[in-house]
Amino acid sequence: MEELILDKKQDETRQGEAYAPAELLQKKFEQHFYIESYGCQMNFADSEVVASILQGAGFGPTRNQEEADLIFINTCSIREKAEQTVRKRLTTFKSLKRKKKTLLIGVLGCMAERLKSKFLEEEKLVDLVVGPDAYRSLPTLIEEAAGGQKAVNVLLSREETYADIAPVRLDSNGISAFVSIMRGCNNMCSFCVVPFTRGRERSRDTKSIIQECTDLYENGYREITLLGQNVDSYYYSTSQDQLPPVTFANLLEQVARIAPDLLVRFSTSHPKDITDEVLHTMANYENICKYIHLPVQSGSSRILQLMNRTYTREWYMAKVDRIRSILPDCGISADIIAGFCTEEEKDHLETLSIMEYCKYDFSYMFFYSERPGTLAARRYTDDVPEEIKKRRLEEIVALQSKLSLESNQRDIGKSYRVLIEGDSKKDKAAWKARNSQNKVVVFPKENHSYKIGDFVTVTITACTQGTLLGTIVNH
Ligand code: SAH
Ligand code: SF4
Ligand code: F3S
Repeated sequence: MEELILDKKQDETRQGEAYAPAELLQKKFEQHFYIESYGCQMNFADSEVVASILQGAGFGPTRNQEEADLIFINTCSIREKAEQTVRKRLTTFKSLKRKKKTLLIGVLGCMAERLKSKFLEEEKLVDLVVGPDAYRSLPTLIEEAAGGQKAVNVLLSREETYADIAPVRLDSNGISAFVSIMRGCNNMCSFCVVPFTRGRERSRDTKSIIQECTDLYENGYREITLLGQNVDSYYYSTSQDQLPPVTFANLLEQVARIAPDLLVRFSTSHPKDITDEVLHTMANYENICKYIHLPVQSGSSRILQLMNRTYTREWYMAKVDRIRSILPDCGISADIIAGFCTEEEKDHLETLSIMEYCKYDFSYMFFYSERPGTLAARRYTDDVPEEIKKRRLEEIVALQSKLSLESNQRDIGKSYRVLIEGDSKKDKAAWKARNSQNKVVVFPKENHSYKIGDFVTVTITACTQGTLLGTIVNH
């Protein structure tokens, strides 16, 4: 079954057109690694930690699979389809290994954690299986694998945050970076495999986060996205330095204070944990972008309870009202699952009506895909027939398209100060940026001498469902 996703950010793959900073690519290394990442932004951020560890062990990055001595695939287990994509990619890598016997293939990330050494039984040509908390052991594991042993480390940790490792920015435009602030997840949404693949939630040392963000700013970066499965439950406290505990609102404020021209974004917020304090902090700092990704999953309180989301339809709607009252111009997006266990037509209609109520600017929309070992797989039957899941998802996608277009139409005539991120994909004579609400803005370069990383003011003159089109305001 094909999944429908309006904006492909979450399931996007970046196949090897990596990649590393120019100075690193020029440096001479005897051995090279190639890494490909799938899944969420946390996985992309982890690949940057892996690149740093590998570089420390004497391996240089390459964007050429044929040149690589080590091929890593950082995997995702969130839906069955994500795993199928990885298996398909592995087939290509295995055929490379048949040609070059010394090539080592390593599977990293969530699928490695879910399947553990079973992976080696299923995929004979894989040499290393390394879970998300075990990347520090990569150099040792590589040695073992080079010596002909199969190498596995899938130990989950309660402490590991890779706080002291400076990530090697892969695939970067030199302007926008992702910074991991926590790992794991303590929520037990019944459909979700993440608590099993990523382990217990733990927050990263505040000082190391601020240091990393400050370094990025000093190196020319102008946009930072703070990452976690549930950023609002960030909580860092240590008995050593007698400082008060740091909440997500405190952290956000500290990052925003680094510099007024550093844009700050974050993802993902769980509706149950986002506080008024966070909303007020967002209101107080112009450089904190007015955008919240607030996954709803379903509009039916009965289904939400089965999903173990710990809020009801009414509670979620009140949270959206609260956001709109404190931050009237805030963009809101959602994740939505169609066809969860026992979902009936009336539950589905409630999902459609909550979408109308919340007027999401955009959404990530999925079919329910049963994941082995999850609460839902153990307790409930995946009983909504495939064609019904598909039809409901199509209705959700159609409604979101309408809402996205209406939302963009409301922006025509408004002006936004935006950070130039790069060329527009379709037109090299136009720039691409995103406004505070995280909407893509495209505008002609004209005769101005602006460059990537500059801020410009753009007036919106037209739109499509996915993009705002504008012109630079002449001063
Ligand atoms: N931590 C984030 C979401 C991480 S997973 C949060 O809590 O919001 C991203 C999205 O994938 C989820 O929000 C959910 O909509 C979807 N998802 C997770 N498990 C799924 C499954 N088994 N089938 C279909 N979609 C799923
Ligand atoms: Fe999964 Fe729920 Fe945790 Fe998000 S909050 S990662 S959906 S268990
Ligand atoms: Fe996938 Fe793991 Fe992220 S399952 S969505 S890569 S946390």
